[in-house]
Amino acid sequence: MVDFDNLPFGKVFTDHMLICEYKDGNWGEPEILPYGPIPMTPALHALHYGQAVFEGMKAYRKVDGTVSIFRPEANFNRLNRSAERMTIPTVPKEIFMDGLVELIKLDYDWVPFGENLSLYIRPFLYASSEFIAARPSDSYVFCILLSPSGPYYSGSVKVKIEERYVRSADGGVGFAKAAGNYGAAFYPTRLAQQEGYTQIIWTDHKNHHLIEESGTMNIAVVIDGVFRTPALSERILAGITRDSILTLLNDQNFPIKEGPITVDELVTAAREKRVSEMFGMGTAAVISPISHLGFRDEVIEIPTPDNGLSALVKKSLTDIRLGKVEDTFGWMYDI
Ligand code: COI
Repeated sequence: MVDFDNLPFGKVFTDHMLICEYKDGNWGEPEILPYGPIPMTPALHALHYGQAVFEGMKAYRKVDGTVSIFRPEANFNRLNRSAERMTIPTVPKEIFMDGLVELIKLDYDWVPFGENLSLYIRPFLYASSEFIAARPSDSYVFCILLSPSGPYYSGSVKVKIEERYVRSADGGVGFAKAAGNYGAAFYPTRLAQQEGYTQIIWTDHKNHHLIEESGTMNIAVVIDGVFRTPALSERILAGITRDSILTLLNDQNFPIKEGPITVDELVTAAREKRVSEMFGMGTAAVISPISHLGFRDEVIEIPTPDNGLSALVKKSLTDIRLGKVEDTFGWMYDI
């Protein structure tokens, strides 16, 4: 029995999943099957070489009881950008969009309603050939899972500036939602968690002077009243929540600066109490206030005001997603 009042993140799955296979140079017919195990050879290519990419997106139940997906075409485009970088054939739009809509229609009753609840959607693509030569697979599987979910982080988060390990480098796969980007982050994240942090903040690979992104989210900080976030680069995931927040703030003429934030600038501003707020932005993480910033042996407290910018932006996004206000940006895709 699923307890909809206490939904964890990503542990409950709906009754169905979509599967579509690519072989002999073509995508086949997508199929919707009961959710369950996928037969697998131990020589499955993706298991050996990590040729796999994924997406994270959400559908919401609105106050009128209907269901809409938030910006699915943005996720579709990003999935294919990731696929290209990983030498995976791109997914045709009709397979992605029509399949997604059919799947959600079938499992409509699984979409929860509530301020912090949504149907998390996990499209993914993996190399499915049965061979272990280190070259791109010949066959692939595109799959979509649906997971009614609660918040990813239960409260505010503590982040540590990482100065030893790197997530990405120029010319690498940092901009892609490649499975291995996440797997490779687990070890440094665990080290930070052993010190009491929730996540790390990645810094640049050259000399760890620039703030990049956090484990599961892009980073925003309000310094001297200006909303700051690192500009996108090939090292940073182009977050759709990040983009939506920038659009909302631009619309409200809030002062914004997208560009380099040095570690020194951030730490100095936090010490001098010129940081009024800091938060992570992501599909799973939504908007996660940051309460502590760790830098080497120092832990700096960051304000988490109830009525600050992050709360305002979160409310604006939630109101659009739940259909409480008009969606003037055309973000909601009705099912
Ligand atoms: C998402 O926000 O959808 C993500 O993909 C982060 C995830 C690793 C939980």
